Amino acid sequence: MARYVVVGANRGIGLELTRQLKARGEEIIAACRSASPELRETGAEIHEHVDVTDDESVERFTAATKANGPVDVLVHVSGILKGDNLDTLDWDTLREQFEVNTLGPLRVARSFAPFMKSGGKIGILSSRVGSMADNTSGGNYGYRMSKAAVNMAGVNLAHDLKSLGVAVFLLHPGFVQTEMTGGRGHIGPDESARGLIARLDALGMDETGTFWHADGSQLPW
Ligand SMILES: NC(=O)c1ccc[n+]([C@@H]2O[C@H](COP(=O)([O-])OP(=O)(O)OC[C@H]3O[C@@H](n4cnc5c(N)ncnc54)[C@H](OP(=O)(O)O)[C@@H]3O)[C@@H](O)[C@H]2O)c1
Repeated sequence: MARYVVVGANRGIGLELTRQLKARGEEIIAACRSASPELRETGAEIHEHVDVTDDESVERFTAATKANGPVDVLVHVSGILKGDNLDTLDWDTLREQFEVNTLGPLRVARSFAPFMKSGGKIGILSSRVGSMADNTSGGNYGYRMSKAAVNMAGVNLAHDLKSLGVAVFLLHPGFVQTEMTGGRGHIGPDESARGLIARLDALGMDETGTFWHADGSQLPW
């Protein structure tokens, strides 16, 4: 049994990751701002009032988790999408997406890094729309930029945490039917979570600092 932390576990992909990992017998520490009835049903250990934009709440969560031992796998799922285009750009909304999608994972990863096991893994939910090479349409400035920036944060973390024996991966979950997409998508959260778990199981230090689709293909930056 490995010790997993899932941040952003109350709905969507994070909830499904929690469900599937718990079902296969892992120890799951599930963080969220407010627990849903569905998260409570998983039987995971739940920590509420964890806002990834807030230092104090992240530090409190890390301290409570480390008190019970080191972590094998940290999965940062929390994210927001605020659609925009060149005409509708709003600076506050752009900043908000950087706060959650870029600084959030960096804050959580930095806080947990000293309490990860050697051989541990950090998976950060990014998006292929943050890939320069994959951008063929424009639009969604805030979301695209914040995910491109978290890719850089993840590669930096991969370098900086190598000496601790901790590998870091950027993960694209697919186009998934969740609240974020208004229920649109190619796959359900169950299929996405299965793919993400398979990636986390398969990837190791040889692949640290790389970007993967849940379907198993490696993505370009
Ligand atoms: N769905 C897709 O097609 C897709 C594609 C590419 C990438 N992704 C990425 O995959 C991840 C999960 O997406 P999803 O589709 O499952 O989205 P979702 O259903 O909208 O869930 C988003 C999660 O992020 C949490 N969150 C938002 N702001 C937070 C904050 N400040 N602090 C802590 N938690 C916060 C939400 O918690 P609350 O309930 O408290 O708001 C919720 O648990 C995101 O990073 C997203 O960008 C999704």
